[in-house]
Amino acid sequence: MGKKIIIDPVTRIEGHLKVEVEIENKKVIDAKCSGMLYRGIEKILAGRDPLDACQITQRICGVCPVAHASASTLALDDAFGIKEKIPENALLVRNLIHASNHIHNSILHFYHLTLLDFIDVSKVKNGISSEIDLVCKFLQRDNHSPFIPREDDFRLPEDINLRILHNYIKGLEIRRYAHQLLSIFGGKMPHQCGIVPGGVTQKVDAGKIENGIGKLKDIKEFIELYYFRDLKDVAKFYPEYFEIGSSYGNYLTYGIFPLKENGEIKRFQPSGVVYNFEKFEELNPDKITEHIVNSWYKGEIVNPKFDNPEPDIDKEGYSWIKSPRYDDNAFEVGPAARLIVAYMKNQEPWKKEIDNILNEFNMDISKLNSVLGRHIARFIEAKVLVNECINWLLKIRPEDDFYIDFEIPENSEGIGLSEGARGAVGHWIIIKNKKIFHYQVISPTTWNASPKDKNGNHGAIEKALIGTEVKDIENPVEILRIIRSFDPCLACAVQIIDKKKVNKKEFIIWA
Ligand code: NI
Repeated sequence: MGKKIIIDPVTRIEGHLKVEVEIENKKVIDAKCSGMLYRGIEKILAGRDPLDACQITQRICGVCPVAHASASTLALDDAFGIKEKIPENALLVRNLIHASNHIHNSILHFYHLTLLDFIDVSKVKNGISSEIDLVCKFLQRDNHSPFIPREDDFRLPEDINLRILHNYIKGLEIRRYAHQLLSIFGGKMPHQCGIVPGGVTQKVDAGKIENGIGKLKDIKEFIELYYFRDLKDVAKFYPEYFEIGSSYGNYLTYGIFPLKENGEIKRFQPSGVVYNFEKFEELNPDKITEHIVNSWYKGEIVNPKFDNPEPDIDKEGYSWIKSPRYDDNAFEVGPAARLIVAYMKNQEPWKKEIDNILNEFNMDISKLNSVLGRHIARFIEAKVLVNECINWLLKIRPEDDFYIDFEIPENSEGIGLSEGARGAVGHWIIIKNKKIFHYQVISPTTWNASPKDKNGNHGAIEKALIGTEVKDIENPVEILRIIRSFDPCLACAVQIIDKKKVNKKEFIIWA
């Protein structure tokens, strides 16, 4: 039996994740990801007005609420029979709100969640600026963490280390611009109120278009000049992370950013399923199920279309996270999945931009299946989306409709498939007597951080951890760098720290 390492909680991610690995001869031989929070949002929705869904489900998460607003709204558009009738202006504005959140997330993830694994704030001298002093003082609280890279694994030269720390601070300002961009069209962030069934809540006039373009230009400059250079330097000094953290090579995406082209709706980032980098197939949502043999719910395999499994705290298992599977296979979701599917479908402008950036990093597409590959995928998305947002803004025709009216049917059902920054997000709804009868959400991290399924297949993060060589088992930084490359988000719903201590009646809801 190898040595066990438990990291609980994993810091600099969203929410409460526990990871347990077993190490033998300095190699990870087994890994377990555990979501230690029970998210019961679906239970809250039952019996409510269907229109509440796109507001309430945003409260699942303050970091990626727009993904839930989008998936929920698509499910409602579907249930109300209007999904093909949404005005073009509304699709463009919904996309702008959603893309602002993705761009924000790429910068947040790279600068504020990831970089402290690679830059050393303790190396920065005092007195360079009051801002830097303040940030260094704040960040060094991280030294209390039991797992930070040893001094000899902080490899960036002093000048690059300092420059990236400067950009860490600038990144905070740029994230604010991304939130302001979202607020122009969505009213506020988090928990925007622009995206609703039927379209969007407000018209966009010339002033808003101009304001949006101004914000986008500032964000674009940061992405193309600063973000790109900083990412390249991290890749240059940590090249082995192109080989570390590979998962199955199975990728799934629902596609995102619907647009009308010649009367047909097409997604700017297409849907699809890739097996082991080779076999491509079109997505068939009927193949999605959730295995729960290792999750604290009653049952073995459930279907999001109509099942809402009850929590079971006495069950053996190791996670509140379920194990979504497509045709019984485990998949990685997220930016790498979206890019690989777009690449395999030769969809532009993705194909050309992916080729350009892969060339800059001197890598082929299979290297997206790694720690650095996931960071590069996030950068490529931010770069393409910031340009595409400008195109979308210029396509808006303020004199045309932004909304169509609809009736809530007596009985109906709908499915809303979209993407959060972290990957595929799906909402399933059944309406009976004009009220929500059934609601299910499968979030991106449910795919990536899922426990083992009925067939013994690990989730994508577990798979990426297994086989990793850990140089210093007292300080397993490789493990943290791998986990963080997936940008996990477990920040959802009801709090349970230790399932054994909790009475079923005492689930505390905080969303
Ligand atoms: Ni989230």
